[in-house]
Amino acid sequence: MIIAIDGPAASGKGTLGKRLAKHYGYRHLDTGVLYRAVGFALIERGIDLNNEIEAVHAAESLDPEHFGNPALKTQQAGDAASIVSAFPRVREALLNFQRHFAEEPPGAVLDGRDIGTVICPDADVKIYVVADPVVRARRRTLEAKGRGEAADEALVLADILKRDERDQNRPVAPLKPAEDAYLLDNSNLDIEGGVRAAIDIVEAVRAGR
Ligand code: DC
Repeated sequence: MIIAIDGPAASGKGTLGKRLAKHYGYRHLDTGVLYRAVGFALIERGIDLNNEIEAVHAAESLDPEHFGNPALKTQQAGDAASIVSAFPRVREALLNFQRHFAEEPPGAVLDGRDIGTVICPDADVKIYVVADPVVRARRRTLEAKGRGEAADEALVLADILKRDERDQNRPVAPLKPAEDAYLLDNSNLDIEGGVRAAIDIVEAVRAGR
């Protein structure tokens, strides 16, 4: 079984993905990490994020061993990811890794922006997570502060809105719900409530409802 979770920045899809994978005993891939690793590779080497050739090269030579690097979680890496992810050849270079991950037994949960639309269009269950931008900004700010980073909620909100705009309006694999995705509004749910809602969706699909 493949579960695809898509949604905008800080909607809570990563936490939901991790928890769903744990619940079902599946593997989990936060696909944002791949794009963050590409952006971060350019930043580290002082290369302009708009340099498509270097971005493609970085995507082709990613090392999954580095996906746990805490530097990938920062807002800077997220912004860089949002820029390099607009290059179609970067997306292409990361496609096979994601599809192979999805197809390995016993099952997988992938979260990102285009899992249900491009990476796994035949996923068994597709969930599109949304949440009010103000709520997302508050959560991101608390997360950043928890990591000891300085974070201003108004600036985080502005960044989230800019990222939504860029992710939704790029010509290739834009952020949007698949036609057969179930919408999960996470605005007023705590983590446990969101997890329960996601499991209810999966169970309803499995039961053929
Ligand atoms: O989910 P995230 O914040 O880690 O994603 C960072 C950026 O990576 C996001 O703004 C757009 C890009 N991304 C993408 O284009 N496709 C994905 N499947 C996941 C992330």
